Amino acid sequence: MTRKLSLLLTLVLTLLIVPSVVAEKVVTISTQDIQLVYKVDKNNKLRQCYFGEAIASGAEQALMTKHDAYPTFGTSYVNEPALRAVHADGNTSTELVYVSHKTESKGDGIEYTEIALKDSYFPFNVTLCFNAYAKENVIEAWTVISHSEKKPVMLYNYASSHLFFQEEKYYLTQFYGEWADEMHMTEMQLTRGIKSLESKLGVRSNQHAHACFFLGLDAPAQENAGRVLGGTLAWPGSWKLTFDVDNLDNLHVICGINSFAGQYQLAKGEVFETPKMLYSYSNNGTGDITRNFHRWGKKYGIWRGDRTRTTLLNNWEATYFNFNEEILSKIIADASDMGFELFLLDDGWFGEKYPRNNDDAGLGDWMVNRAKLPNGIGYLVEEATRNGIKFGIWLEPEMVNPRSELYEKHPDWVITQPNREIDLSRNQLILDLCNPKVQDYVFGVIDNTLTENPGIAYVKWDCNRFVTNSGSFYLSADKQSHLWIEYVRGLYSVFERVRANHPEVSIMLCSGGGGRIDYASLRYFDEFWISDNTDAYNRIFIQWGTTQFFPAMALASHVSASPCHQTGRVTPLKFRFDVAMSAKLGMDIQPMNMTEEEKAFSKNAIKEYYTFREIVQHGDLYRLLSPYTNPRTAMMYVSEDKQDAVVFTYLLEKVINGGNNQVLYLKGLDPNKTYRLNELNKEPNKWSWFNELEGKSFTGEYLMKYGIRFPMYNQYESKIIRLTAE
Ligand code: GLA
Repeated sequence: MTRKLSLLLTLVLTLLIVPSVVAEKVVTISTQDIQLVYKVDKNNKLRQCYFGEAIASGAEQALMTKHDAYPTFGTSYVNEPALRAVHADGNTSTELVYVSHKTESKGDGIEYTEIALKDSYFPFNVTLCFNAYAKENVIEAWTVISHSEKKPVMLYNYASSHLFFQEEKYYLTQFYGEWADEMHMTEMQLTRGIKSLESKLGVRSNQHAHACFFLGLDAPAQENAGRVLGGTLAWPGSWKLTFDVDNLDNLHVICGINSFAGQYQLAKGEVFETPKMLYSYSNNGTGDITRNFHRWGKKYGIWRGDRTRTTLLNNWEATYFNFNEEILSKIIADASDMGFELFLLDDGWFGEKYPRNNDDAGLGDWMVNRAKLPNGIGYLVEEATRNGIKFGIWLEPEMVNPRSELYEKHPDWVITQPNREIDLSRNQLILDLCNPKVQDYVFGVIDNTLTENPGIAYVKWDCNRFVTNSGSFYLSADKQSHLWIEYVRGLYSVFERVRANHPEVSIMLCSGGGGRIDYASLRYFDEFWISDNTDAYNRIFIQWGTTQFFPAMALASHVSASPCHQTGRVTPLKFRFDVAMSAKLGMDIQPMNMTEEEKAFSKNAIKEYYTFREIVQHGDLYRLLSPYTNPRTAMMYVSEDKQDAVVFTYLLEKVINGGNNQVLYLKGLDPNKTYRLNELNKEPNKWSWFNELEGKSFTGEYLMKYGIRFPMYNQYESKIIRLTAE
């Protein structure tokens, strides 16, 4: 070998052996304000280097590699892997190496990135996928798994995403609840070890907790300051958000489907796609994160999120199961007279052999109960049309009562285990959506109802129980653990078909109150029902929690009777309206039980709602005083052009000494604009503490720095203040 050749060979070898001299590969996922950066290290492993406020382009090269991007069991040093797979030869480990990555624009400021990884030995592929929404500052993260091994690979853990943080302290805000008591918030400092928020309920999976969180980095999350991560999983099935503070005080956030009892046999060539985990981040507190999710939700996460939602009167708390054609016709006329835009007929209108006169029979038999409604649904639709309003109907298509013709015909269509007593919850069972025949049936329930009654403009889609005895007669014995995933796939397929046939019908997502609220389902739904608790006092908390992630335009909020049917609380009608009007207004009162004075008040309130609902439904939410820390609470919405705003404030508790003089420092206004203040939904002939400010004008700067100052005196007092730029 000549000297020259040997020198060349040495150079080539050096380059191969010491790859660190070659610039590291960097993958950057960015929105306008936030950035997630990965690098491929010298061992060809993908590492997360950064997640936080966007840094200047080019600066990524200097970032240190930190931690496995997607830790796997057996080869990553973690307590909780994002992925655990067992190969047919019994090998329990996975070692992922980088293959390639690509980025492409999807238009409208959305950038898609995928990073392909593969096992260092097996033909087993994992692709990390991201959509970065530049304007909304939201990043969607999910994972696609596939292989070409001869025999199936068993997946035991299959997270959507893993994020890594290296901070002094971490503060987790979780969202939890129960039937009629949804979406409470509480914050805790994370200590060493694992804290997981999870649901194993399968269906109605948000009954006890919501797959949402805030993570305060270094300090507790604040409304307008501090570094905060917000996350929510777009998946209506079982879910798990794991927060693992490791032995070096690093934090691993692992989010995705709850794979408990849900191992998945992945066949050769099959593509397994996890749900999308949505993240937003801000250096200025949770308020920004909320506004980011709301803007994103209205544009991408909710069916027709750009449209204004209609007001409605619902007969559930008005009549429960106790109604007939005459009663409903009268309610329809009253609803129209009060100014509502739609009448929603709730549970109890169906069942022939097993009429649905209470909750123990009829689910599954979606034919009209002629004893109650001799002229069918069509007649009521016509009644509504005659009265100039639209008509909506309640359905619970995924469920069946054993006392039904459907169950008699298809006892094998339900989720249950053989050789076990059937386990009823609200006297009902879940139909097995893993089974394509059941999917057809469930789709048919909605499709037939809407096709046979073309005037129906609105559907309330309910879902009143979770999974127990998790067996499917359709799935084979070795695939019973697929039920949790196959159910959701079946559900999505039904959602898709319904939307393909009925794009113009408004559909409400309801689940025994707020048991199913997620950004995967909401892609098909116009709005949601967050709680069967309609007590305005409780609703202030429930709505405060919910609107951290989901916008008020989709949050149905109904004025109901006093004393409240759920809590017995007595509150003024104005207070109930003022709370309901801060979201999507509806009512659940039998108008026949209202006095003329109450009806007149309601009529005026509804009329006034129409003057500002665009601001509530399409504006940005700013929270001013939290009900968790103040006896007086307040928040406001500001229109995108900052021309209009509306402030809501409520007194939860009377403070005898000192009064309730809390200043409302307004937010989100244009400091240079001048706004006129007017109180809305006033009680007739009643002196108001706000009188001194009525009709006056102030600059946005003044309203944000000096604030609005007026006392509130009695418990359940409330005010709505309209700001109009002059
Ligand atoms: C669930 C819903 C309620 C009502 C009833 C009817 O509980 O959340 O709003 O529709 O079912 O049975």
